[in-house]
Amino acid sequence: MTLAIRNALIHDGAGSDPITGDVLIEGDRIVEVGIVSGGADDDIDVGGLSLAPGFIDVHTHDDFAALVHRDMAFKTRGGVTTCIVGNCGFGAAPFDAAMVMGKSLYPDMEPPVYEGYAGYLAALDEYPPGVNIGVLAGHGTIRLAAMGNERRPPTDDEMAAMHASLSEAVDAGVLGLSTGLIYEPGRYAETEELIELTAGLRGTSALYASHMRNEGEQLLEAVNEAIRIGAEAGVPVQISHHKVTGEANWGLVSQSLALIDEARERGQIVNADQYPYTAGSTVLRAVMQNQMFDNRTGAEGVVIASCISRPEWEGRSIASFSEEWDLTPMEAAQRIVDQEDGTSVVIHSMCEPDVETVLAHPSTMIGSDGIPTLDGKPHPRLFNTFARVLGHYSRDRGVLSMAEAIRRMTGYSADTFGLVDRGYVRPGAFADLVVFDPETVIDRGTFADPNQYPTGIHRVYVNGVEVVNGDTPTGALPGRALRRVDG
Ligand code: ZN
Ligand code: CU
Repeated sequence: MTLAIRNALIHDGAGSDPITGDVLIEGDRIVEVGIVSGGADDDIDVGGLSLAPGFIDVHTHDDFAALVHRDMAFKTRGGVTTCIVGNCGFGAAPFDAAMVMGKSLYPDMEPPVYEGYAGYLAALDEYPPGVNIGVLAGHGTIRLAAMGNERRPPTDDEMAAMHASLSEAVDAGVLGLSTGLIYEPGRYAETEELIELTAGLRGTSALYASHMRNEGEQLLEAVNEAIRIGAEAGVPVQISHHKVTGEANWGLVSQSLALIDEARERGQIVNADQYPYTAGSTVLRAVMQNQMFDNRTGAEGVVIASCISRPEWEGRSIASFSEEWDLTPMEAAQRIVDQEDGTSVVIHSMCEPDVETVLAHPSTMIGSDGIPTLDGKPHPRLFNTFARVLGHYSRDRGVLSMAEAIRRMTGYSADTFGLVDRGYVRPGAFADLVVFDPETVIDRGTFADPNQYPTGIHRVYVNGVEVVNGDTPTGALPGRALRRVDG
């Protein structure tokens, strides 16, 4: 079965200037790029639209969504063909601990039961989703399984149990280990524990990805900790959702970017990902535990995104509850999590110049950090991240050229995470492709009305199979579990 996509403005994913031509696909691979003279079983003329490698979302929390919302339309309709799951310390295994951590966000999910990361990857083989999935092991999940929610260093036996979990994950083919150092139980880990565990990745191509301990006034200390863990463990570092929050700290990203540059000059591999918005999103409990009301963001800036038992609260700020109930913001937040433990919020806490400074820096690739609570008002980044980078930040604001913006969501990402034969349009690569209109592509989801698909994404292919055609997901499930290949 061959498919020719003709008359496209082809971006290679390496940042080269685009060329006009055709792409010939045979089965799941690209076999020819340029002028394809012969016929094909299927022939599509895309009339000069742009064609790029499918977007790689390097920062997701789709571990369970991939098994329970298998078409993954909230990703494919935004041009995404691969998701890296397991970020911020929240991993898919060990299963029982993953359910405890996952169910605070998705109380009614029922994924198939599996054992370990090998079992999770096998479940994806058996029940494939619409996108490819690469997996990070989560430190928080591993720690919870080994020692519960203890606020102390692990004993030798507990450390051995954590090493055993991680080596199961490494043998199964995970792409790295993530930490979430503002969340329970990751926040109770000291740097030494993290160095010791991360050293379990040494000698493989796996990386250390971190939602750092602080993204406000102590951002630089937190970046230094991540870089130190990578240096001492001998493992590449991925700084998750690089940003600074809190008005008093705005501008600090130029210094955190300089720390990355310095580490790179010393020969360390340090990269980062970013979502293209001035608001973040997390669980309300974490906002409270990290005292974000007092020293970072006013309670007006913290807005309920998803509250399963009280959907009427969604879209309201913590300040509005504190006023209505005549409580402090902290007390009002406590009443809300007493009602619904997994309540998630959107936090307006960053500034536009910082977002652009981080995006322009060569260490930054794109990751949505979307939390797939599809029923509430999830942060619009879930559906719209890639279209917003292309339409708003590249075309309209000129922060990056279109070719470079595409590289930051394709080739660069594939190289960093070790995704073999993905992220590029070239002969031999897997046919993960997106056809989009560079003149009209734009995000449409807003904070008030987030569940809107972006415009300008015309066709999406995963492993040579069409998953989106115009406004319609095809229902195909051609995604694969992507296992690490060392060396
Ligand atoms: Zn995070
Ligand atoms: Cu995250």
